[in-house]
Amino acid sequence: MAQQPAASTAGDLLAIAVRIARDAAETARRMRAEAITDVQTKSTDTDVVTAADRAVERQVVEALRRERPDDGVLGEEYGDSAAPAPGAVRWILDPIDGTVNYLYGLPQYAVSLAAEVDGVVLAGVVRNAATGDEWTATRGGGAWRDGRRLTGSARGTLDQALVATGFGYDAARRAHQGTVLAGLITQVRDIRRFGAASLDLCLAAEGAVDAYFEKGLNPWDHAAGGLVATEAGLTVAGLHGEPAGDRMLVAAPPALFGALHDVLAKLDASGGP
Ligand code: IPD
Repeated sequence: MAQQPAASTAGDLLAIAVRIARDAAETARRMRAEAITDVQTKSTDTDVVTAADRAVERQVVEALRRERPDDGVLGEEYGDSAAPAPGAVRWILDPIDGTVNYLYGLPQYAVSLAAEVDGVVLAGVVRNAATGDEWTATRGGGAWRDGRRLTGSARGTLDQALVATGFGYDAARRAHQGTVLAGLITQVRDIRRFGAASLDLCLAAEGAVDAYFEKGLNPWDHAAGGLVATEAGLTVAGLHGEPAGDRMLVAAPPALFGALHDVLAKLDASGGP
């Protein structure tokens, strides 16, 4: 059984996460390149994505088990392995965030891996598997890309803001999200929908969009990217003082958060199915 240190710093956890996420991203990229032939011959597009999701998740879980046998893992495909003991590390993994982009070969899909202790995310990495772009953060240690510390957008007016969002897979939820979007789009510069929540959060962290919001996210969609955005100085929260979660996640610079929050609250963005 591998030796595990009694305590790990956020930096230790990030180093493990980055190494494992890089290998996982390479598997996702390679499987997609190989799967193109399979899709053409077998026409099983969704199976191919599912196979890649599962293969990448298995690879990550096995790597974590080898290095950190006492930790918990919450993954998108396999669910929670076990409730972590107090003080124990739980890894939160989305093996391929942006699965529809992956299916179509749009270069906006990522491996997202975060380390959490007692419900607090301490370290996270998001790696775009198509491009190799990588964002990292540790709690209190800042958010980084390519050695550059991220600080988010300086924009403070909503009508000048470029706002990213996403939609769930359920039609009834989408109908509500569409209504919210119709109310918001006249009050902002424009809207973007890239298709991978973890990357949306990282884009907001580096100011490539001014803000991001979405209802219905799962922990694996936002654990790592949420820390990147927070450490870049963004406010990451729900509506009406709630924490960010499945009801709503808004990530915006403090100067923009209030205005975006108020419009979304008025549109009942955290309501509906
Ligand atoms: C989805 C993506 C998408 C977001 C959805 C997520 P998946 O994750 O992050 O951008 O709008 O809410 O479920 O299914 O590609 O892992």
